[in-house]
Amino acid sequence: MSSQIIDGKKISAEIRDEIAKDVQILKDNTGHVPGLAVILVGDDPASQVYVRMKKKACEKANIASFEYRMPADTKECELLKKIEELNENDKVNGILVQLPLPGQIDENKVIRTVSPLKDVDGLHPENLGLLLSGRPRFVSCTPYGIQELLMRSGCSPEGKNVVIVGRSNLVGKPLAAILMQKSAGANATVTVAHSRTRNLKEITVGADILVSAIGRPGFITSDMVSEGAVVIDVGINRIDDSTLEKGYRIVGDVEYDTVSRKVSFITPVPGGVGPMTIAMLLKNTVKSSKMKWA
Ligand code: GUN
Repeated sequence: MSSQIIDGKKISAEIRDEIAKDVQILKDNTGHVPGLAVILVGDDPASQVYVRMKKKACEKANIASFEYRMPADTKECELLKKIEELNENDKVNGILVQLPLPGQIDENKVIRTVSPLKDVDGLHPENLGLLLSGRPRFVSCTPYGIQELLMRSGCSPEGKNVVIVGRSNLVGKPLAAILMQKSAGANATVTVAHSRTRNLKEITVGADILVSAIGRPGFITSDMVSEGAVVIDVGINRIDDSTLEKGYRIVGDVEYDTVSRKVSFITPVPGGVGPMTIAMLLKNTVKSSKMKWA
């Protein structure tokens, strides 16, 4: 059996079109345009690529984007001051500090300094608490994108066994919270597995929907999935490839060639979850501006 590819590029483009329409309506009704501030500290090449993509997506959707680049040796207090300034800036509805941050900066402190009303990344403890208590405000973009991807591909998680491999604050934990909610597009039975899980394969073969967010190339092999499952690959791993000019290529966590022959639906890397993350960031930014003006 050959699987159907879940086209994140196409689905995210549809969402971005919907967002652009929403932005126009907001502008017509209130005279305001949503604004997103992105802060990049240091010069991590992958982060630079992500920030550039976020800026481009904002421009296409007519969302104002403000970019702040700070050197790798930026002091924590300087970054916190910049965030506090943006918290007070009425043109800015969303603030995103690109992670990871250099070692001298406490990530948790940074996340807590962003106003919870502008935390379009959904990482502030207040927003995480709202999600856990069943009243979500901002949901972090990658898990939110995964839920949309499932729904828009006809793979609703309702009543399904969902196994998430990975327990990060950015993906695994919030995704579990989203999909176990008592609400439409959720209602799943969720298992979270991680690096210390014993007998992982016994757990993953029970998945109707398997999500891998562990960051190891080729980690999910075909013996770990059941026939007809849905596989969502969140991994973005660089591996050396001397046949390419840039010297590397991007692969997911899933051994795509073998797994795709066994399952019913699968996301490619790149072009699966990645583009969805950006679309949901824009969606959260528009939501934030509506909370303020509409
Ligand atoms: N780095 C990788 N993914 C993300 C994300 O979703 N948000 C932020 N702020 N940084 C990231």
